[in-house]
Amino acid sequence: MADKKAQLIIEGNAPVELPILTGTVGPDVIDVRGLGASGHFTFDPGFMATASCESKITYIDGDKGILLHRGYPIEQLAEQSDYLETCYLLLNGELPNAEQKAQFVSTVKNHTMVHEQLKTFFNGFRRDAHPMAVMCGVVGALSAFYHDSLDINNPQHREISAVRLVAKMPTLAAMVYKYSMGQPMMYPRNDLTYAENFLHMMFNTPCEIKPISPTLAKAMDRIFILHADHEQNASTSTVRLAGSSGANPFACIAAGIAALWGPAHGGANEAVLTMLDEIGDVSNIDTFIAKAKDKNDPFKLMGFGHRVYKNRDPRATVMKQTCDEVLGELGIKNDPQLELAMRLEEIALTDPYFIERSLYPNVDFYSGIILKAIGIPTSMFTVIFALARTVGWISHWKEMLSGPYKIGRPRQLYTGEPQRDIVELKDRK
Ligand code: CMC
Repeated sequence: MADKKAQLIIEGNAPVELPILTGTVGPDVIDVRGLGASGHFTFDPGFMATASCESKITYIDGDKGILLHRGYPIEQLAEQSDYLETCYLLLNGELPNAEQKAQFVSTVKNHTMVHEQLKTFFNGFRRDAHPMAVMCGVVGALSAFYHDSLDINNPQHREISAVRLVAKMPTLAAMVYKYSMGQPMMYPRNDLTYAENFLHMMFNTPCEIKPISPTLAKAMDRIFILHADHEQNASTSTVRLAGSSGANPFACIAAGIAALWGPAHGGANEAVLTMLDEIGDVSNIDTFIAKAKDKNDPFKLMGFGHRVYKNRDPRATVMKQTCDEVLGELGIKNDPQLELAMRLEEIALTDPYFIERSLYPNVDFYSGIILKAIGIPTSMFTVIFALARTVGWISHWKEMLSGPYKIGRPRQLYTGEPQRDIVELKDRK
C-alpha cells in the first residue's frame, strides 16, 4: 500500500522520509505519523488536507460530484434501493440478498419500540424546547436503558446496538415531535415500511389513522437514503473521536447529534427555511444576494456551497427530482416560500459570484423544501437528518472498533503565554 515516499526537508535538518499511501480510488495520502520524531507536527485546522482515518464505507469525489457507498453510486441507491437496504450495505459492506434483506428488516422491526420508561424522560423537557436539544438528551439516555449491549469489545453487542439505533431513531424523532405538539405519542407499526411508519408516528393520532401517501413515503425514504452517510464530516468525525475513547455507542451518537445541529452542517436544512422567512419576498432577493457576497456581512445563502463538493452535490440532483415529484403530488403551486426558493435557486445558479466559487444548491436546500411541503415543521428538519445519518455514524463507529485504533488526540500550535509565575493578588495591577 505504501510504495512511494515523500521527502520533507526542514531547513537545517536531514530530510524526513514519509510513506505515501494509496487508496482504491482518490488522491494519494502522505503518512505523517512518523513526523513527530523530527520534533515537528502538521498544522491543519479544519482538516483541509488531513485524512483522520482509513475507511471502506463511503467515497466522495467533490470535483466530479461523485458519492459512492461501498462502491455504489448514490443515484443508483436512490433509484433502485431503499433505506433499510442502504443501511445493510453501509453496516455490512454488501447489498443483502432477498433472504438477508427479509431477515434484516425483521430484526430492525423487532427493535422499533423504546423502553416504556424512556417516555418519562420527555416530561423533564419544556414543550417548546428545540427538538434537537431533546434528541441529544434522549439518545444519550438510551445507554441507561440498553446496558445489556454496551460491551464495545464484543462484536455481537456492537451489532445489537447498531440495529437498536437504526430501529429506534424514527420512534424517538416522532416522540420528540409529538411531545412538542402536546399530542399522544404513537407506537410504531411494524406492518408499515420504515418511512411509512415514521410518517405514521409523526402525523397520525390515536383518534385518527390516515393512510400514508406512497409518494410522500417514497420521498421520505429518499431523504433517508441521501442523508445516510457522507464519510468524515464534522458529526461522523465527532462520533469516531468520542468512540475512540471507548465511550458507548449511544453516547457517541448523542455526540454526533450535537455536532450535526450546527447551521454549517445538519442545521442547514432548517436554516434554509429560516432564511426564506427572512428574505420574505421575491422582491428582496437582490438585497440578500448582495449581503451574501459582502465580505463584511456574515450572511450566507443557506443551502448553497459545500466543503467537499466543488461541483454539483449529487444528492441535490436526486433531491431536486424528488422535490418536483412531491410538489406535483401535493399540488403546491402557489406557496410563496417555495416560489421564493425556486427563484433564489435560479438567480444563484446564474450569478458569477456563485459560479466562480462553485456554490451550487446542496442537499439541504431541496430537502428543506420537501420536508416543508410534507408538513414537517422546520425545527424537526435536523432531527430527520440525524435519524437518517445514524446508520452512517454507527457504521463508522463499528468500522473503527473492528480494527486497530488509537484514541483521537490532535495536537496544537500553542500561541498563548509562555511559562510565567503567579503574582500575589495584592501585587497584581
Ligand atoms: N453563501 C455565500 N458565499 C459563500 C457561501 C454561501 N452559502 N458558501 C461559501 N461562500 C463563499 C465564501 O465566503 C468564500 O468566498 P471567498 O473565496 O471570496 O472568501 C468561498 O465561497 C469559499 O467558501 P468557504 O467558506 O471557504 O467554504 P467552506 O468549505 O469552508 O464552507 C460551507 C462550506 C458548507 C460551510 C459553506 O459553503 C456554508 O456555510 N454554506 C451554507 C451552509 C450550508 O448550506 N451547509 C450545508 C452543507 S451540506 C450538508 C452537510 O453535508 O452538512
